[in-house]
Amino acid sequence: MQSSTIKHLAIIMDGNGRWAKERGFKRTKGHEVGAETIRTITTYCAKHSEIETATFYAFSTENWKRPKLEVEFLMKLLDKYLKNELSTYQKNDIRFQAIGNIQEFSKPLQARIKKTEELTQNNSSLIQVLALNYGSRSEITSAVNKLISEGKTNITEEDISTHLQTPYTDIDLLIRTSGEERISNFLLWQLSYAELYFSPTLWPDFTANELEDIIQQYKTRTRRFGGIK
Ligand code: FPP
Repeated sequence: MQSSTIKHLAIIMDGNGRWAKERGFKRTKGHEVGAETIRTITTYCAKHSEIETATFYAFSTENWKRPKLEVEFLMKLLDKYLKNELSTYQKNDIRFQAIGNIQEFSKPLQARIKKTEELTQNNSSLIQVLALNYGSRSEITSAVNKLISEGKTNITEEDISTHLQTPYTDIDLLIRTSGEERISNFLLWQLSYAELYFSPTLWPDFTANELEDIIQQYKTRTRRFGGIK
């Protein structure tokens, strides 16, 4: 039996707050270490022979409900992350792309996001997608509205797929860390046939070795896409 290939990996990074609390740190420390984990996992994905896209849920539309100071910290961290990350992107041939309603971010942060996208647009070992102020229902609704404004009347699945913000390919494997087993409005359309994996590890402790183990397990699964095999 042929093992399943993995082209598009998606990750819900969860557990930064609990990781910090367990160690008597502020929640923000968990986010800081979590940002380093994104770098480690992205670099691993860029070197992986099959993975073409890795999409990370970095800030959901619901995350604005967090205390103002935590939101401000996350915005600053994102800016710092993208600034520092440019050399990693170039060295490892990684293209950066953002999805989500970034127009709600500050102008300098929007500029940083756009600039990083532009500077890395010719890199091709991996597309790292960060979902920022992202919600899947909003993404699908926008796609439908775009189609309506284009005058489409008979909308097909293909139309919706190609009008989503996400560089469109179906997700092969979704991992959520921290033991929570929810999708939380992430990539609902793109996850239709994904294999799901829930890891008990808190995101700051997640390693490339664990990812490798999960990918090996994924490869033993039989993906039927609704048919029989
Ligand atoms: C969930 O942990 C994590 C997030 C809010 C999203 C991921 C954010 C990062 C990894 C921080 C850095 C990101 C970038 C792109 C610089 P949680 O706070 O919900 O943890 P908890 O459930 O234990 O409270």
